[in-house]
Amino acid sequence: MKNLILIGFMGAGKTTAGKLLAKEKEMGFTDTDERIVSEQGREIPDIFAEDGEAYFRDLETELLCHMQEDTYHTVISVGGGMPVRKQNRELLRSLGCVVYLSASRQTILERVKNDGSRPMLDGDDLEARVKRLMRERENFYRQAAHVMIRTDGRSVPQVVRIIDQETRKYGL
Ligand code: S3P
Repeated sequence: MKNLILIGFMGAGKTTAGKLLAKEKEMGFTDTDERIVSEQGREIPDIFAEDGEAYFRDLETELLCHMQEDTYHTVISVGGGMPVRKQNRELLRSLGCVVYLSASRQTILERVKNDGSRPMLDGDDLEARVKRLMRERENFYRQAAHVMIRTDGRSVPQVVRIIDQETRKYGL
């Protein structure tokens, strides 16, 4: 399979693990949020504030369509909401081997609690918001994934080693 795609909730460690994985496997690395920010010339909170979530979701789908043409042998870290759309789940799977990095609600909360850069987590009661979103998305992540890996209690190098082991059978 041509690419290795990391999906999962905000704070699951997709970008951190993805960068190390790409280095170790001598693959390219790309992050869908970073690509959208650089193409738009503005940060994600600004895109949400100025044009709304639906506009951002359309940018995500458009990017996945472009990536079908121009992305090979690359570790792709994907924004946490990307697998919610059915079309995106199909596009992700056609890009390569999709790995779902999962984490418990407690782990996620620890990792995202002091971060103001995620508009989906703005507002009161972070815990309730994370709980609801995780519950809404769990099935979508599972449907999109070829492989699922739990990250709780594991260091980044450990997670990377497991991803490597689990994806070899997909030709990566
Ligand atoms: C989002 C996750 C973010 C980013 C945007 C929306 C989401 O990416 O795409 O803030 O809906 O879960 P990370 O998962 O990299 O934080």
